[in-house]
Amino acid sequence: MKEVLIRPFYRGVRGEIRAPRDKSLSHRGAMVGALSQGVTVIDGFSFCADCLSTLSGLESWGVEIIREEEKERITVKSEGLGKLREPEDVINAGNSGTTMRLLAGIATGIEGLTIFTGDESLRQRPMKRVIEPLRLTGAEVGGRKRDSFPPFFVRGRDRVKAFSYHLPVPSAQVKSALIFAALRGEGTSFIKEPLPSRDHTENLLRYLGVNIEKKGGVIEIEPPSSISASYLSLPGDLSSASFLIALATLLPQSHLLIRDVGINPTRAGFLACLREMGGNFEIIGEREEFGEWRGDIEVRFSHLRGIEIGRNLIPLVIDEIPIISVLAAQAEGTTVISGAEELRVKETDRLKAIAQGLRGLGVEIEERDDGLLIQGPAVFQGGKVNSYGDHRIAMSLVIAGIVGKKDLVVEDIDCIKISYPDFFSDLEKIGYGEWEIKER
Ligand code: S3P
Repeated sequence: MKEVLIRPFYRGVRGEIRAPRDKSLSHRGAMVGALSQGVTVIDGFSFCADCLSTLSGLESWGVEIIREEEKERITVKSEGLGKLREPEDVINAGNSGTTMRLLAGIATGIEGLTIFTGDESLRQRPMKRVIEPLRLTGAEVGGRKRDSFPPFFVRGRDRVKAFSYHLPVPSAQVKSALIFAALRGEGTSFIKEPLPSRDHTENLLRYLGVNIEKKGGVIEIEPPSSISASYLSLPGDLSSASFLIALATLLPQSHLLIRDVGINPTRAGFLACLREMGGNFEIIGEREEFGEWRGDIEVRFSHLRGIEIGRNLIPLVIDEIPIISVLAAQAEGTTVISGAEELRVKETDRLKAIAQGLRGLGVEIEERDDGLLIQGPAVFQGGKVNSYGDHRIAMSLVIAGIVGKKDLVVEDIDCIKISYPDFFSDLEKIGYGEWEIKER
């Protein structure tokens, strides 16, 4: 297992960097490629571990995928909807909830048995939220511990029943699983969301010509007879870029330009929070390409103040709460995060992990059932903290270490490759190289 020693840095981070590619969109790009007939070329694909799990899953269904990592490109060859075939073995989604849940939706429309498993963390994450609604399609679906956890199976059929479903939790993964299932429906399906969550699946399918509309919080999906393969170029990942944005915000004299970041409003709650905290950044060159908004983000150091983040905003900052907590601990005043109990069922219990990590650095932080109360500004102390095998906790703690006052060891950092394999080399590119990785 690897750990990293982080030495405090007193100069700013500077320069220009291309954002790491978007994980959420890479999963979806590969999946729609597999459901399209012909050859789909995808540029700007993220070769992070989670997206590689998606590629192997799709290959188990007979899809051909060529990987060109140096070009950040994949080529997906498929006969498309209705032509995927029963896998010969179980699909192992590794650490990736998105792989498992979205592929489960696709599996309902594949004749035969698909079985999903994952690593130790994923096998403890809730799956009833997809297993139960996917049964509305007429597919047989069942899992361990009364349908609660992986491994689980889907016995799909070539065409499925059309359905209506009201999501109890605002989850883009569950919504996307159902959208993919609806593509093989015998009629129009309807999905209602309690609050908006990231809409990448909808945007991508609409871009490829699928009739998918949102009317008053209800998504209507008309199953296409086929989807034609197309070229896609994906933007950078705001969730990964948020670590660099946070670092530039917290280190005096910083001035950073992060190029080509996805700024889809259903993903960009981090920027809204940072703005409210007093962050000094600008979005330049906003443009819509391939169904998604992107732009360059120019960030400078600024003094921050505490804010309140309530339930309605949580789906839009679902993955950024750990790094927002680091910002909050450096901000003047109190930050209250509520309605965030979903964080307890991520790669680890993120409310607990961030509270423990920041407390270890000397922050006054209260863990609540549904959130956190963080008192700032703190002077981060050194010592040893643990990521609990969660990539976003690991990177948040590394950022805290860089802006801290003493050497910090972050344990269990192999997980960073889950979403951002180039994290440390990107830190070097913007001027911070005072880390030392050790094998323990
Ligand atoms: C994701 C949706 C979110 C997020 C996850 C990626 C996606 O999960 O936390 O990292 O790509 O759809 P939920 O939809 O379960 O909240």
